[in-house]
Amino acid sequence: MNRGKFITIEGSEGVGKTTQIAALRDSLTARGLEVIVTREPGGTPRAEAIRELLLTPTDEPMPMTCELLLMFAARATHIENLIRPALERGAWVVCDRFTDATYAYQGDGRGVRREEIANLERFVQAELRPDLTLLLDAPIEIGRARAQARDAETGVSDRFEQERREFFERVRNSYLERARSQPGRFAVIDATADRESVQHAISAEVEIRLFMRP
Ligand SMILES: Nc1ncnc2c1ncn2[C@@H]1O[C@H](COP(=O)(O)OP(=O)(O)OP(=O)(O)O)[C@@H](O)[C@H]1O
Ligand SMILES: [Mg+2]
Repeated sequence: MNRGKFITIEGSEGVGKTTQIAALRDSLTARGLEVIVTREPGGTPRAEAIRELLLTPTDEPMPMTCELLLMFAARATHIENLIRPALERGAWVVCDRFTDATYAYQGDGRGVRREEIANLERFVQAELRPDLTLLLDAPIEIGRARAQARDAETGVSDRFEQERREFFERVRNSYLERARSQPGRFAVIDATADRESVQHAISAEVEIRLFMRP
């Protein structure tokens, strides 16, 4: 049995990651693949409990070191208990955010040094890296407007959504810079288009990068 492929989807708030994952799952499943859709932080019961700690606003300030270590603590259990076993049995794993989000949010967003994140990445993940990372890119205002319209229905906004504009600009630029420096792994998708166009762009990248040259 061949190892499955590991696809991650990234991008700043509200660009359409969760929306697009559903369509991607359906198209991969239609090809007869076993597909596991998961997310970070979270993906297993323990990691989801850590997600709550990370996202729920509280009076106690969150030191950035605490945020960073909780992210990797969640990732460790997610990898060992879900991602790695799935890939080993041949399933394809599609993950809503992964370590590139840590570089973007905790790294360039909050100012944690890149080398500190790289050390934890090696420690927690060993050789595991995504085979393909789909970066949905759109100006901050577009993602914000989409997320606000969505959250107006549920009335929730998490600790990250309460951040300021400059923070999200740094996050967006961080993602774009990582994509430029690792073009073999990243595909940058224009997320300003309508859902269907974004979906087609994603399908085309998956086709070229994972099926035509597997
Ligand atoms: N291409 C699109 N055009 C217009 N609206 C969209 C598009 N894609 C998604 N949306 C809508 O925008 C909102 C945000 O989308 P979604 O929740 O998928 O974003 P996300 O990237 O997962 O956000 P978050 O970073 O908060 O998890 C949803 O209400 C969704 O229906
Ligand atoms: Mg989402």
